[in-house]
Amino acid sequence: MSTRPYVQLSAAQSLDGYLDDASGERLVLSTEDDFAEVDRLRAEADAILVGAGTVRADNPRLLVRSPELRRARVAGGRPEQPLKVTVTATGELDPASRFFTTGDTPKLVYAPPGTATALEAVATVVPLADPGFGAVLDDLAARGVRRVLVEGGGGVHTRFLSEGLADELRLAIAPVFVGDARAPRFVGPGAFPRPMTLADVRSLDGVAVLRYLAAAEPSSVDIQRLRQAIALAAECPPSATFRVGAVLTGADGAVLATGHSGEGNPRDHAEQAALAKLDPGDPRLATATMYSSLEPCSVRSSSPASCTRLILDAGILRVVFAWREPEIFVVCEGAEQLEAAGRRVVEVPALAREVMRENTHLPGVRI
Ligand SMILES: NC(=O)c1ccc[n+]([C@@H]2O[C@H](COP(=O)([O-])OP(=O)(O)OC[C@H]3O[C@@H](n4cnc5c(N)ncnc54)[C@H](OP(=O)(O)O)[C@@H]3O)[C@@H](O)[C@H]2O)c1
Repeated sequence: MSTRPYVQLSAAQSLDGYLDDASGERLVLSTEDDFAEVDRLRAEADAILVGAGTVRADNPRLLVRSPELRRARVAGGRPEQPLKVTVTATGELDPASRFFTTGDTPKLVYAPPGTATALEAVATVVPLADPGFGAVLDDLAARGVRRVLVEGGGGVHTRFLSEGLADELRLAIAPVFVGDARAPRFVGPGAFPRPMTLADVRSLDGVAVLRYLAAAEPSSVDIQRLRQAIALAAECPPSATFRVGAVLTGADGAVLATGHSGEGNPRDHAEQAALAKLDPGDPRLATATMYSSLEPCSVRSSSPASCTRLILDAGILRVVFAWREPEIFVVCEGAEQLEAAGRRVVEVPALAREVMRENTHLPGVRI
């Protein structure tokens, strides 16, 4: 069976936790800047999923709007638009909904057998007796989907979170109250097995944007190896850029190589220094984990290949890092690029302060 896709939930809610009001008219909780960010998340995804309740209530298009983002997808060899996906237990969806009629992209409907025959002319109907979302993800993986953006509504968010299937949550909180118990909530009652860790907090035009990561991983071995990588940063020579340590381990957890920024060549990055100590054909790389105190770089002026590229080329499947690269020199998209390529990325923001302590020489870094 293929690896299940990375699942990112996205929702905008009021201060009192509602996704909408009860008026029947859609309550707009996002700003233009927030919509633009969600558009970027759509462009990064292979599929966008919403529940049938959202198709009925909001009649959304679920398309990437920005022409630049669409062009970038095509230039990267991807379809112009992600797949559109919905789930229904009743099959009660209008074939004239914009979900079905807009966008030159395949539409998938997961529904119990025989319930959604009226949709077969406008979508691929995938019969699933009980579309538990694990089965939906397995089917999407078999169709080549590696990253899914789930855009609600509350019923679907509740299922993904209570089934422990969400890897990440982007929650935008608008400074308004709904105050109506008939309105839909972001999540309903449930047992939520994967606690979430707060990874980022930003203010975007009056809207608070929170990013949470599901805390199923890291293991105690991950923490031990990541601390080892963080400690290695102390060995970096003085530098005007990031001081980073990296540890590369095999499937059994044994250390294959270590590295730190400026090791050998002053411009070398930690992951690069560690990888340079192994033969590129070393079979252990296919099951290795790269631990780095900082998110692997995705843009580099000092070398043709970023560390993200080197990790991808080495075939490393799993990367664990502590501090997401702040926007000091460039906009780093290492974690996103690794995830988009199907690699497992584990961020441990709880250790980020320890990495920052080694980097207070950088502008804006305070602990
Ligand atoms: N603010 C935001 O970010 C945001 C985003 C999206 C939506 N919303 C709002 O959220 C509201 C809709 O939320 P909602 O909770 O009513 O609907 P929803 O989560 O979009 O969809 C729930 C529906 O999905 C289907 N479903 C869910 N789990 C299923 C499963 N395991 N198997 C089969 N079908 C399954 C069922 O469809 P059937 O009923 O067809 O069987 C169920 O009624 C709307 O008011 C909308 O405006 C807000």
